[in-house]
Amino acid sequence: MKIRVLGSAAGGGFPQWNCNAPLSRAVREKRPGFLVRTQSSIAASSDGQGWAVFNASPDIREQIAAAPELQPASGGPLRHTPIKAVVLTNADVDHIAGLLSLREREPFVLYATSRVLKTLAANSIFNVLNPEVVERRELPLEGVTHLEGPDGPLGLTVETFTVPGKVALFLENDSDENFGTAPGDTIGIALSETQPQPRNGYDRTLYYVPGCATVTEDLKKRLDGGGCLMFDGTVFHDSEMADTGVGEKTGSRMGHMAISGPDGSLSALRGVDLKRRIFVHINNTNPILDPTSDAARAVAEAGWEIGYDGMELTL
Ligand code: MLT
Ligand code: MN
Repeated sequence: MKIRVLGSAAGGGFPQWNCNAPLSRAVREKRPGFLVRTQSSIAASSDGQGWAVFNASPDIREQIAAAPELQPASGGPLRHTPIKAVVLTNADVDHIAGLLSLREREPFVLYATSRVLKTLAANSIFNVLNPEVVERRELPLEGVTHLEGPDGPLGLTVETFTVPGKVALFLENDSDENFGTAPGDTIGIALSETQPQPRNGYDRTLYYVPGCATVTEDLKKRLDGGGCLMFDGTVFHDSEMADTGVGEKTGSRMGHMAISGPDGSLSALRGVDLKRRIFVHINNTNPILDPTSDAARAVAEAGWEIGYDGMELTL
């Protein structure tokens, strides 16, 4: 199975269009080691021909432009795409707005949970993807789905599972104690080839969890022995948005656990045996974006990699 990180940043990207904080300035000024990052998405393929995209970021147009394998085949039909399916892990703007760029009557299959499908159905702008052309299929909150494109199976299987999270910011209801959050607002995905592969010590599964509010014992058990984890790397310090003066919200208020601290992901996932562990969905305030920072060093010492746009792996 081939995996490509299309976008490694959280909502806003890196640099964020209106951000003048030191990290965004550094990447805008092309300081060495600072990489431009587009918003949260990955792509996967079992045969290198048909691809599934996981989360449709507002940057999908430039992400496709940077990935020849996602472009219309040279010599192919006049309208063509190797993208046969799109799978959503929640209804956040950075994960659904790219659907609007996938219009033009191109068939693919759109997979999401019932809550997310309802959000799309309630926002008529998403009818630019005519459901007669882009079939919408419901993913279970917990269960196995063999992904299909319009022409049949993609050879990819996803196991979906709920993770603690929060309803999308634009769906928040301030009068509600938990902002309207319900179980299943955010899912994680275990992605593997449908055809069983030899284990090679670790399983050949990618665990894709770009948003997660806490690591539960269930999640740890599920990840143990995994071939690769791509995990929520939104913030390093829970309070870094306030600390850097760009906002007031904590990571936890946004449904994202911090990397550092006693309740952070480094600590929570330390005892879980994984072949590779990679942070994705990295916010533009996160100090790991500076490769010379103490934060970047701490992450590397704990065995984590920092995802970047165009990162490829084979599982
Ligand atoms: C999030 O991951 O919390 C959202 O993408 C924030 C946003 O709406 O940009
Ligand atoms: Mn996000």
